[in-house]
Amino acid sequence: MSYSAILLVGGMGTRLHPLTKATPKPMLNVAGVPFIEHQIVRARESGVSEIILATSFLAELFQPHFGDGSEFGISIKYSIEEAALGTGGAIRHASNLLTGSGPVVIFNGDVLSGHDLAGQIEFHINQEAEVTLYLTTVPDARAYGAVELSGDRVIAFNEKMANPPTNTINAGCYIFNREVIQEIPDGKVVSVERETFPQLLADSRRVFGFVDDSYWLDIGTPSALVKASQDLVLGHIVSAATPAHLGDALVAFGATVGEGSKITGGSVIGKGAVVESGCVIEGSNVGAGAVIGSGTVLRNSFVANNCQVPSGTLGNSCFLGF
Ligand code: GDD
Ligand code: MG
Repeated sequence: MSYSAILLVGGMGTRLHPLTKATPKPMLNVAGVPFIEHQIVRARESGVSEIILATSFLAELFQPHFGDGSEFGISIKYSIEEAALGTGGAIRHASNLLTGSGPVVIFNGDVLSGHDLAGQIEFHINQEAEVTLYLTTVPDARAYGAVELSGDRVIAFNEKMANPPTNTINAGCYIFNREVIQEIPDGKVVSVERETFPQLLADSRRVFGFVDDSYWLDIGTPSALVKASQDLVLGHIVSAATPAHLGDALVAFGATVGEGSKITGGSVIGKGAVVESGCVIEGSNVGAGAVIGSGTVLRNSFVANNCQVPSGTLGNSCFLGF
């Protein structure tokens, strides 16, 4: 069986300013490729053959990299919201471009996870569900949608609550039956978390939770973004989209590393970048064409493409050149 999917990539990425001023969050470089390449390749591996990118903010920046998807072994189309429609409105708008039949997979475009998507789809079908939410467990659910269950059935959805009643959260991947998507009003701003889910539950519709506690990370904050890239390069989470590399760093073809410099901790050195001598680059992302002056020490930091970092710079958890 092959499935259709919608990838939500239209948010503003405000928590990642200034990185997301000119690059949408889903296109930020994570382990050497735009972040959603990891999600797209994984979706394909799980049986998704068609994916609609639901774009709004900086919509024009996706197609030049992903094209029609053929390079990635999947069909990719682009839905554009002139003004952002919210997560529910985006799903409804993007659904106009879907072909085929059967349930539709919806992804938030900022989640790195190792969850069993094929298992979630199978669960959805076996339960005769209308909507199935992938759920995970976090220590603090306040920044997420806290989801209450009775058995496998979702009974309450609480988006970003001060005192969440549970640590089980919406992990940002849903299976929707097409009829349910068609019920969302077209061309209107709708939040799937604040409107669609609560309404479905109020109407006692068949909404199920698929709990999977494998690797999960929302890359929407600076520390999470850094961690995602490190974890991919270090192999803590495996993605077929991560370029081949040796050891615990990813040094792109054509980048140069000077004498005595150490590149470690899941760092990425972009195409054509130059790291001069005697530097320590740990858990950091150096953009294409950047030049890192000699004796620089960077930890958990991001350097913009083509940025010139002066010799002897010391940087910890910082963004340079954005
Ligand atoms: N096309 C489109 N249009 N996409 C949107 C819009 C919109 O108006 N608004 C948000 N998105 C996309 C974002 O680009 C992102 O990929 C995804 O929807 C989720 O938005 P975030 O802004 O990252 O939401 P969040 O992280 O605060 O919360 C969401 O994710 C959590 C899990 O990471 C919610 O779904 C929570 O319930 C959930 O727990
Ligand atoms: Mg998010």
